[in-house]
Amino acid sequence: EWRMENIVDNIVENIRRKVKPYEKVLVAVSGGVDSTVTALLVKKAVGKRLVPVFVNHGLMREGEVEEVLENLRSLGINPIYIDASNRFLERLKGIRDCEEKRRIIGEEFARIFSDIVRRDKDIKWLAQGTTYPDVIESGSTPGSDRIKSHHNVAGLPDWLGLKVLEPLRELYKDEVRRLALHLGVPKDVAYRHPFPGPGLAVRIIGEVNEEKLRIVRRASRIVEDVLKKHNLYDRVWQAFAVVGDDKWVGVKGDKRQHGYIVIVRVVESVDGMTADWVRIPYEVLDEISKRITSEISEVVMVTYAITTKPPSTIEPC
Ligand code: XMP
Repeated sequence: EWRMENIVDNIVENIRRKVKPYEKVLVAVSGGVDSTVTALLVKKAVGKRLVPVFVNHGLMREGEVEEVLENLRSLGINPIYIDASNRFLERLKGIRDCEEKRRIIGEEFARIFSDIVRRDKDIKWLAQGTTYPDVIESGSTPGSDRIKSHHNVAGLPDWLGLKVLEPLRELYKDEVRRLALHLGVPKDVAYRHPFPGPGLAVRIIGEVNEEKLRIVRRASRIVEDVLKKHNLYDRVWQAFAVVGDDKWVGVKGDKRQHGYIVIVRVVESVDGMTADWVRIPYEVLDEISKRITSEISEVVMVTYAITTKPPSTIEPC
């Protein structure tokens, strides 16, 4: 496609104009389409002066860390891998408030990146996969309200004293996905659902602990698997599970059991700024519910989230 070719040329040209021939560019890769495309574009522009970093914050989905590393390597991006899961989970202990969780996660990311930047004085730039809707929602354009502190747009560059590149700043998700395919990114990565930077921390209501993490991981995998099985995954914007602290009395076998409630959320959206819940067939919802309650012993109730954005948001936190 000539249009995609044009976009790539423009972006690469732009990066080369800004970044001096000895300067390095840090990119925090997550496995998502935005940061993957950002890294590929920066690599095209500055080659080996790209410094990709993948931080495991312990809030990834089942099997995600291995999958992401493998996908990136197959695209020629071999990130510095930092397993900081203990550090993140330790700092999140006892923290119930959403914005506080987000703040702590952002701060830990910043600490890790500042260590890297301190050790390599040639790193002068941070490239971020900010897309047009991120720009709007984070209130960095005049007249818009800040809805949530999406950490990937928040204060990171200030902390690090780096200059910022945002090559996707003018693109919508759909355009980023087409750009990804154009750059050779496999279809399942290009069309992967958005997954928030703070990971499962925003899909756990209240404190993040091992038990709730285990539940939300397993339940999310089940939601994704069942939707894929019914060819629904690619037709929706996001599909995931949420767990909080509320309990429901259940009967499993012949015992009463006070168990967790899992909320399933499946939405369609064009850009994440507004969303509608998907009218999933009852049989599919039933299958999700049966699998979650039978495969996760701590769960006795599954609910389906049926509120649009607005007034709700997509993620619970
Ligand atoms: P909300 O929940 O605000 O989400 O309706 C809108 C879209 O943004 C994603 N999201 C995030 N993405 N870092 C991200 O990179 C974040 O902190 C974050 N929080 C929400 C969300 O998944 C949805 O697609």
